[in-house]
Amino acid sequence: MNHMNEGGKHESGPGYLHGFGNHHQTEAVPGALPGSQNSPQRAPLGLYAEQLSGTAFTQPRQANRRTWVYRITPSARHSAYHRIPNGNLHSAPFTDTEPTPNRLRWNPQPAAENPTDFVDGLYTVGGNGNALEHAGIAVHTYHATRSMTRRYFVDADGELLIVPQTGRLHIFTELGRLHVAPGHIALIPRGIRFRVDLPDPAAAGYVCENYGPSFTLPERGPIGANCLADERHFQAPAAAFEDPAEVPATVQLVQKFGGNLWASEYDHSPLDVVAWHGNYAPYRYNLADFTTIGTISHDHPDPSIFTVLTSPSDTPGLANADFVIFPPRWLVAENTFRPPWFHRNIMSEYMGLIHGVYDAKAEGFLPGGASLHNSFTSHGPDADTYAKASTVPLAPQKVDNTLAFMFETRWPVTLTRHALDAPHRQTDYDAVWNGLTSRFPASDGDAD
Ligand SMILES: [Fe+2]
Repeated sequence: MNHMNEGGKHESGPGYLHGFGNHHQTEAVPGALPGSQNSPQRAPLGLYAEQLSGTAFTQPRQANRRTWVYRITPSARHSAYHRIPNGNLHSAPFTDTEPTPNRLRWNPQPAAENPTDFVDGLYTVGGNGNALEHAGIAVHTYHATRSMTRRYFVDADGELLIVPQTGRLHIFTELGRLHVAPGHIALIPRGIRFRVDLPDPAAAGYVCENYGPSFTLPERGPIGANCLADERHFQAPAAAFEDPAEVPATVQLVQKFGGNLWASEYDHSPLDVVAWHGNYAPYRYNLADFTTIGTISHDHPDPSIFTVLTSPSDTPGLANADFVIFPPRWLVAENTFRPPWFHRNIMSEYMGLIHGVYDAKAEGFLPGGASLHNSFTSHGPDADTYAKASTVPLAPQKVDNTLAFMFETRWPVTLTRHALDAPHRQTDYDAVWNGLTSRFPASDGDAD
């Protein structure tokens, strides 16, 4: 049990609890957790007990997620929710535009002109499925230039997989604090309240809002018991709460519910959980901890070997969404075209670049930018990359200084109007494949 007192004025870094999906117990004040039961007649230290059910009560143990929190004031004490503007945040079903078979790519989104916090800085690119039916995803970006003050956020429609691209985020959740920087990810389960502070002047990144089954670790199959993401590297927060004396008299809780934003006023901090136990918790993960595997003979495997997290569907192996990364790695394949090959895929692929250069695109795919290749869209290396990779001597090569990622999803991603018409969308993206001219019949004997 963790006995760190993380309350209010303490400046020390957050504490973490290790392991993916573990049952944790943690208290910010010693004695705050009841010892042998969940709901004693009076909870310790004058706290209120509350259960947070992330799955239906009756789901099998393997899938069941719930956490008991012991808080200063019941979360039920708040005013009625009222609608507030959605800003640039949109939700499934996406019907503003027609699903497009075109290859799409965006330059980095311009920074917000006005002071913007994490919630106001959310900008929806598109998505699929239906938020109310808990199916599909939405793809968002965020650009923030100030911390959230006097306001908190909670998403009832989906869990939030946050992928920082620039700037650190200090995320203070109901269950404790998560600090992340570019190269880390944070996951906030649906229904868990949080606020985001910015220790740097600005922060930007990507968000997968997963309406479907919670992200979990992929099966390894013949890979065996090791490699890819390891359970022990996932970190949930130790209990921490905001000092009630430092919380303004009135604060706002913004809730995304049924695709819209609603707000309620609280006269206390929603982040007042002094202790908790359970397995429904936010977590962070350092992508540098991912053990990357690849071919040591010829022909590289499918990019599923780079899957960090998967949101499964009812069909085995068919993901509602996969979170996939393309990290630094050695390329040693012999007699092989080493970059991603040309392909068409029933799954739809939204890609972003955290830093560096992606090995299938020599230029034009920029850190902070993005591409979308919807179902069965023809794509692959650009002409310059193909020309180089098909002729370069195949010595062992370290692909370094790169970190790209993909949200891969079972249904086409339909765009918001503002993402389709965005000035920063590259309307000439198709041209990157123009230089791929016919070489048939080859005269240089480049057969197997
Ligand atoms: Fe692809």
